[in-house]
This record gives sequence, C-alpha cells and structure tokens, in this order.
Amino acid sequence: MDKHTGLPVVGMVGGGQLARMTHQAAISLGQSLRVLAVGENEAAGLVAGDVVLGHHTDLDALRKFAASVDVLTFDHEHVPGEHLLTLAMEGHVIRPAATALGFAQNKLVMREMMAGLGVPGPAFAEVSTVDDVVAFGGEHGWPVVLKAATGGYDGRGVWMLDTAQHARETVPELLAAGTSLLVEAKVAMRRELSALVARSPFGQGAAYPVVETVQTGGINTEVLAPAPGLDDSRVHEAQDLALRIAATLDVTGLLAVELFETDTGLLVNELAMRPHNSGHWTMDGARTSQFEQHLRAVLDYPLGRTDLVAPACVSANVLGAPELPEMGPDERLHHLFARYPEARVHLYGKQERPGRKLGHVNFTGERMEDLRNRALLSAHWLSHAVWLDGHEIH
Ligand SMILES: Nc1ncnc2c1ncn2[C@@H]1O[C@H](COP(=O)(O)OP(=O)(O)OP(=O)(O)O)[C@@H](O)[C@H]1O
Ligand SMILES: [Mg+2]
Repeated sequence: MDKHTGLPVVGMVGGGQLARMTHQAAISLGQSLRVLAVGENEAAGLVAGDVVLGHHTDLDALRKFAASVDVLTFDHEHVPGEHLLTLAMEGHVIRPAATALGFAQNKLVMREMMAGLGVPGPAFAEVSTVDDVVAFGGEHGWPVVLKAATGGYDGRGVWMLDTAQHARETVPELLAAGTSLLVEAKVAMRRELSALVARSPFGQGAAYPVVETVQTGGINTEVLAPAPGLDDSRVHEAQDLALRIAATLDVTGLLAVELFETDTGLLVNELAMRPHNSGHWTMDGARTSQFEQHLRAVLDYPLGRTDLVAPACVSANVLGAPELPEMGPDERLHHLFARYPEARVHLYGKQERPGRKLGHVNFTGERMEDLRNRALLSAHWLSHAVWLDGHEIH
C-alpha cells in the first residue's frame, strides 16, 4: 500500500512500452506503477518515478520486487514459470498466475490445452527431430509453419518452411541450439483478428470490439477497430471464445486471443496475457484504454466500458526506417501535426533503429478507409520522413 495515497501498488515486471503506457494509465487512477526494468534507458524506466533495476530471470530480484508491491503483473512473457510458482508459494499475489501465464509462455503447451478444450486451431505437432517436420509436411502439405515454443515475438521464432529440403536445412541447427519447436499447418486465412478481453479475480469479464490485425513481415503494423465487415455472429463467437478461455484458464488481467479467420470459421493462433499491440487503439478509440483495464483487472476493481467512442479507430505502428532520415524526429512531428492535427501520437521514447517498434498513431472517426489511409501515411512519415502519397512539404 502506498503510504501517501492509501492505494495499492502494482508492480510490473519489464520496462518496455507496455509498462510505459500502463504507467500513463496508473497516473490517472492516482497510482504509480512500480517497474522492474533490466536497464536504465528502457521505455518505462524513462518515465516512471518508481523503477527498480533487476533482471526478470533473477529469483532474488523478483522476490525483493514482489515483496515491495501489492500485486505483481507483467509487460512480457519471459519470467521463468518456476520462479513465478516459487513466488506464489511464498505468498505473493501474481496476476495472471503462473498456471495461467504458462499458456502464453509456451506455444506447444497452449496448443495442447486448446485442443483439449475443443478450441479450434491449426493442426500441430511437437518436433523432436527433423523427421517429425518432414512427416508432418507429408501429411498436412507444404509449406508448414515451424515455431519456437518459447521466447518468440514479432515473428522472431516463426519460420515458414516450403519443402522437406528447406526443413532439413533449417531444423537441425535450431534443435542443436536447444530451441524447443513445434510445427503447424499453414492456415489459408482470409485475415487475422484479435479478441481482447479482461477478467478480474472476482470473475467479471469484459470484451472489447473484435479487431482486424494486419501483419507485415511477421510484425503487426495496423489494427482496424472494429474488424470491417465481420458479422455479428462471428464477433460474438470470438468474444465468447476469449471470455471462455480467460475463465477456463483462470486468467486475471487482460487476455488477447489472436485469431485466424478462415472460410470455415475461427482458429486460435496464440494467447497473450497482458496489454497487447492489438489493443493500442483503445487509448483513443475506446471508453477505457486497455492499460487502465489491465490495472483495474489486476486490482480487482470493476472493469471499465469497452465500447468504441466513434464508429471506427485505426492504429498504425511506427517502425524504424532501414536508414535514419536526415530530418530529425522533432521536425517530423511538426509536419505530422501540421497535416493531421487530429492524429493521436504515442511514441515510446526509444532510439530509432531499423524495424524497431517506436510508437503508434491512432485515428478515430467515421470512415475506416479514410482513417486507415491517414494512419498509414502518418506512421510511415514519422519513421521515414517520406509521405507515401507524394505530399509536398512547403
Ligand atoms: N499456422 C499458421 N498459418 C499461417 N500463418 C501463421 C501461422 N502461425 C503464424 N502465422 C503468421 O505468423 C505471424 C506470427 O506468428 P505468432 O503469432 O505465432 O508469432 P509471434 O512472434 O509470437 O507473434 P507476435 O508478433 O504476436 O509476438 C502470425 O501473426 C501469422 O501472420
Ligand atoms: Mg502473434
């Protein structure tokens, strides 16, 4: 409990942009997020007043941090499960609990659990030798999708293998390096969706509108809220599925269920139990941002409203350009606001590097195509200093 405010203290393990934006939401609630960060210049470390330096794999650092907060939560999935179980046994409050988080930490464990629950997903198999992959490709057809069971993000840890030959060139090296692997059938999908829900320890659930996520090179680059043209029955199916998974796995906090929409229905891709890229639009487009919702959920407050504030909202990620533009970020922002005063810019305070997620831009309004156009132009402009539509600067 914070002595000044009389409010509980939430501790977030990990100091990235998700912690940074959770801190932003905590301020409005009169709270301050305590952050366990690895280094001094992390996105959250730069802004939160209460930062503890320590590594998320160091049990002693975790233990000390947990003892200083009322509830422990996460900005990423990389805390070893056995450490979380130890902390829980020692009486610390962890949300989501290790038993739930395990399904977001390990894709094979998650696939097995989903299959056990009868939740539709792609065909998959565990990989112990390259022959497992070759046999799977023979049975389900090529290409196949090879995945690291743990530690992957932003498409790192995902490999599309076109042929048995390709598998023989790729798999042995990964196995030799100790990577635990699974293989999945490559899904012929119409598009990718995300169903974001929150669940509190009390058992209250809240579902956000289902969104479409657009990926480029394995990274989510654009989020469209609500998913255009998704009929109501599919929306409810996706929301019900996410709420059911949250309740069954006893998730507390946010749960993002990444989905593939196919001609025959929805398949689960993966689970995340924290604020998620597919929920960044909620900062400007929903009544309650996902970051505030996560705090409410882990503190067991009643959850906030999840509806859109306008007919549509588009969020586009700002990804570092291959070459740093000559024009500095300050001047780029000037030009962006001159062209689009309504742009809602969220930058993470990171140094620019090729491909790095530097921020996102939200546009909220009436017409999806128009919002999309402005969001994409803005996000590209902010990292590249180039207007893709040839707009001239005067
Ligand atoms: N079985 C599959 N069939 C077709 N495409 C797939 C399959 N699995 C993954 N993909 C594609 O690869 C992307 C990344 O896969 P996945 O979500 O498993 O990896 P990740 O690196 O953990 O993702 P994130 O960016 O969410 O951290 C998916 O969004 C999808 O575009
Ligand atoms: Mg994913």
